[in-house]
Amino acid sequence: MTATAAAPPLLSCRNVGKFFGALAAVDDLSFDVGIGEVLGIGGPNGAGKTTLFELISGLNPASRGHILLSGRDITRLTPEQICHAGVARTFQLNAGFDSLTARENVLVGAYFGRENRILPSFRIGRQANEAADEAMALVGIEASANRITGKLPVLERKLLMMASAMATRPKLLLMDEPVGGLTAKETDRVMRAVRTIRASGVTIILIEHVMRFLVQLSDRVMIMHHGEKIFEGLPGNLVNDRTVVDVYLGQGASDRLRSFMQEKVRAHG
Ligand SMILES: Nc1ncnc2c1ncn2[C@@H]1O[C@H](COP(=O)(O)OP(=O)(O)O)[C@@H](O)[C@H]1O
Ligand SMILES: [Mg+2]
Repeated sequence: MTATAAAPPLLSCRNVGKFFGALAAVDDLSFDVGIGEVLGIGGPNGAGKTTLFELISGLNPASRGHILLSGRDITRLTPEQICHAGVARTFQLNAGFDSLTARENVLVGAYFGRENRILPSFRIGRQANEAADEAMALVGIEASANRITGKLPVLERKLLMMASAMATRPKLLLMDEPVGGLTAKETDRVMRAVRTIRASGVTIILIEHVMRFLVQLSDRVMIMHHGEKIFEGLPGNLVNDRTVVDVYLGQGASDRLRSFMQEKVRAHG
């Protein structure tokens, strides 16, 4: 050991478990996410992916184990405290205030997401306004700022959730199936937004079934099954992992993914 110990990972999950009665939705799970990294999480429905996000973001407390953010134990903090500590998330289904404009939704994130507010002040300050505008520009939805949220198309609603999360100025962004139900072209737009967010220095954990999206964006991939980790490694190694192919991808999807990745490698030299 040198005098200056290495910085701890941004997020560290240590033997984390969540039980619903007899069901272990997340079972003795340990993994780290480094600063600036993109970790992709895949796995069949019911694998425990969303539950893991609930535990990290504090919406549902872990039954056991520890969750550390930059070495600080956040396992028992409230969702507000965890948000203020620098963790933001988006949801599998669209969440937001339908009757507000897009910009007002993002302002909610900017206003409440960044510090404790015991008594709301009368006006939203310059900093919150700036954070909201920056976040909308980051994901490219400035043009929809004044539209009513409930009337936005699905793609814009997904991007709006990302903007609201980014307005809290997080260190870590958790995204739960950000391209579920989108067309290929729409998926590309979300992919660009994720790359922009990443380039702004935010660490990301993505849950996604759309494997092309997951493997293109992730530095590392973790596959879950029955609450456990069955694979952790480089995206390129997924298709060669027998267990992943058997329990999740299936041979056909795995072959298509392999061709797709070889195609990418050829295209980029
Ligand atoms: N609040 C809850 N109460 C009881 N069971 C739950 C609850 N939330 C999730 N589960 C169960 O936990 C398992 C994991 O669910 P989930 O985390 O949503 O999986 P995934 O996101 O990977 O599809 C499923 O069997 C699900 O039915
Ligand atoms: Mg889920």
